[in-house]
Amino acid sequence: MLAVYASDIDPDDPLRGLSVGERPEPEPGEGWTTVTVRAASLNHHDLWSLRGVGLDRERLPMILGCDAAGLDPDGNEVIVHSVISSESWRGDETFDPRRTLLSEDHPGTFAERVAVPVRNLVPKPAALSFEQAACLPTAWLTAYRMLFTRGRAVPGQTVLVQGAGGGVATALIVLGHAAGIRVWVTSRSEDKRREALDLGADKAFEAGERLPERVDAVMETVGEATWAHSLRTLKPGGTIVTSGATTGQAPSAELRRIYFLQLSVIGSTMGTREELERLAQLCVTKGVRPVIDKTLALADARQGFEAMLAGDVQGKIVFNP
Ligand SMILES: NC(=O)c1ccc[n+]([C@@H]2O[C@H](COP(=O)([O-])OP(=O)(O)OC[C@H]3O[C@@H](n4cnc5c(N)ncnc54)[C@H](OP(=O)(O)O)[C@@H]3O)[C@@H](O)[C@H]2O)c1
Repeated sequence: MLAVYASDIDPDDPLRGLSVGERPEPEPGEGWTTVTVRAASLNHHDLWSLRGVGLDRERLPMILGCDAAGLDPDGNEVIVHSVISSESWRGDETFDPRRTLLSEDHPGTFAERVAVPVRNLVPKPAALSFEQAACLPTAWLTAYRMLFTRGRAVPGQTVLVQGAGGGVATALIVLGHAAGIRVWVTSRSEDKRREALDLGADKAFEAGERLPERVDAVMETVGEATWAHSLRTLKPGGTIVTSGATTGQAPSAELRRIYFLQLSVIGSTMGTREELERLAQLCVTKGVRPVIDKTLALADARQGFEAMLAGDVQGKIVFNP
């Protein structure tokens, strides 16, 4: 079957190890099944894998991709929850220290078919297209958990989203707006700031710009490039929720500011199967839809990877096998 896979790892030139070609059909073990992929979406995680973060050279070649929507063997429309917890694990899958994401230990979703545990299938609401549904399992689920579960944002609060154009960031804007939160954003690009306002952001600022007032919470996926600004923009007692470090993970911690203003720094990773179900339901009941930058044939996936590497995205990039 046709697949997009990592054939090599290069921390400095991740696209060097990106291959598109034939890979063997999945062989589901006990408790697993095969999903026919109708759409899959690209995440920054796929670039990290090509850089060797979370993917060892011994596992190559590895089919990339965490997110998919498709059909189970009975023809049911399903969304794939990408967090694979150990068989004996019960409860919140994101706390399982042995969890992996598809494409780390097991072949990923950038293929015509993918094997997944049966318990990782979530019914796809008919109101969502396969392309929209394929955006939910990583970026949108991460945004949902950051805002509501870990960040506990409530209507009427002001939340700053750093790096407005990204997959997680656009989800934070749309979900925050739908939940009655005042959403402010920063972006390096004027076009992305304008598009963020169209998505429901209340104000858009240049990266690093001084804000007119301090905010209740900051949603961080950019990391080193925006961390100092995030700390500076919080009210006393405010919260940073961090789930990513695209630009580096070692900014100054600024401990004095954190303890003196009694700030909270909260980590967040992916989300549970239950949260994915609730997110899909929220999309239906509130009429919100994932922001899709472009849809490409799986065979043209390299174009999508190039755009993400260049930071040239507004929302999600989707592949159709
Ligand atoms: N922990 C988890 O479970 C989890 C889940 C999903 C994602 N993540 C992580 O979160 C990060 C974002 O993921 P994504 O899929 O949303 O990636 P993405 O679509 O590539 O978005 C990255 C965004 O970061 C901003 N950015 C990039 N370089 C920057 C720089 N030098 N200075 C300022 N801003 C910069 C850009 O915003 P502007 O161009 O608008 O400024 C860009 O839109 C990644 O590191 C990913 O690994 C973690």
